[in-house]
Amino acid sequence: MRQTYIKEIAKHVGEEVTIKGWLYNIRSSGKLMFPQIRDGSGIIQGVVFKKAVSEETWKNFELLTQESSIVVKGKPREDSRAPGGYELDITELEIVQIAQDYPITPKEHGIEFLMDHRHLWLRSRRQQAILRIRAEIISAVRTFLDDSGFVLCDSPIFTPAACEGTTTLFECDYFGDEKAYLTQSGQLYNEATAMAFGRVYCFGPTFRAEKSKTRRHLTEFWMVEPEMAYADLEDVMNLAEEFLSYIVARVLDKRQEDLKVLERDISKLEAIKTPFPRLQYDDAVKMLKEGGLEFEYGNDFGSPDETYISQKYDRPVMVHRYPAKVKAFYMESDQENPDLSLSVDVLAPEGYGEIIGGGQRMFSLEKLRERIAEHNLDEASVDWYLDLRKYGGVPHAGFGMGIERCVTWICGIEHVRETIPFPRMLYRLKP
Ligand code: 4AD
Ligand code: MG
Repeated sequence: MRQTYIKEIAKHVGEEVTIKGWLYNIRSSGKLMFPQIRDGSGIIQGVVFKKAVSEETWKNFELLTQESSIVVKGKPREDSRAPGGYELDITELEIVQIAQDYPITPKEHGIEFLMDHRHLWLRSRRQQAILRIRAEIISAVRTFLDDSGFVLCDSPIFTPAACEGTTTLFECDYFGDEKAYLTQSGQLYNEATAMAFGRVYCFGPTFRAEKSKTRRHLTEFWMVEPEMAYADLEDVMNLAEEFLSYIVARVLDKRQEDLKVLERDISKLEAIKTPFPRLQYDDAVKMLKEGGLEFEYGNDFGSPDETYISQKYDRPVMVHRYPAKVKAFYMESDQENPDLSLSVDVLAPEGYGEIIGGGQRMFSLEKLRERIAEHNLDEASVDWYLDLRKYGGVPHAGFGMGIERCVTWICGIEHVRETIPFPRMLYRLKP
């Protein structure tokens, strides 16, 4: 018989269905058993009535352990008291495999234990809710950009040079005589494709050999990066606010159930509407000082500073015009104050901090060459990038959003490590 997915169960009330899944949990009370079955699309509570099934089926149910794989037949019935609104009156059971002692039980486990068992932990309700929201966010990202005229142009993962500073590069041997680095950002390539297609985006894994053990840092994360020709800092901020409000609205529309599993305060997400507040770096510094935080003008913000600023607003705040010296080599400088860059960081509310970084790109070939020298970058490895300033250069701008940071905020959870199926961090490469 064809498999019915639990998610679709409402359409099959009163019909005989086959559910293929795993045993989540089972309770028994003499003549009745209540197995909870999950199939990836959802969870349903089954009811096995001793008198309604064969002796063999009843005995087989008694053998089941947590996470045993099973195929059951039965009829779904509406029941307002049941967790998903439906219950399944089970008549038949086929055991696919009896699971050995499952290491993750309903009791509390430490985070290191759970991370070591990440391959199994993914089966739990909370992890599934987070990763479904991740999938929804990625789908929203793509739909928004595809429908707004951006062409997907993938950037390479093996690169010959740094994009975001040489201290966080993962180096690999490239056939002996050459070194390759895992990409930190597709931006430089985006700038080339933007000159071909006008508006582009890349979306893929990026890497930072970041020796920081914070709740915001991964060594491998996914970044979506839109880039626009004939655009400035203002255009980037306009795009960022439209983009984020679209994503949040989509999650609110499609993933209510998952948000509920996470006990997310929905009202906080409902407030995410354009326009977003815009704040100059200088004013953000004043705000920190007024709040009594120790901060030296000219430095980059640390996590506590970002947290402080972002807690002041009920929607993401766009901090712009950071000092050029704390930003990457490619940032355009502000005509009114060349020490400042035409950059922007978008800080998520509720203390989540930076989720987007971007800005306007340096137009002048000469100034760009100076910056490359100042940052001790090897000009020969980016000669192709300099070509973009020689052959029809135009003002252009873009940004990058780390998917995991965005998922962490929208889910309202503590740490990025739960927002990607298999996180890579300073002390974690397995499983
Ligand atoms: O601010 P970043 O370093 O900017 C860039 O890479 C630009 N080239 C992007 C562009 O303009 N096309 O990184 C962008 C975003 C950050 O705002 C953050 O969301 C995420 O990438 N990110 C990280 N996420 C998880 N772990 C890390 N170690 C991250 N580093 C950056
Ligand atoms: Mg940044």
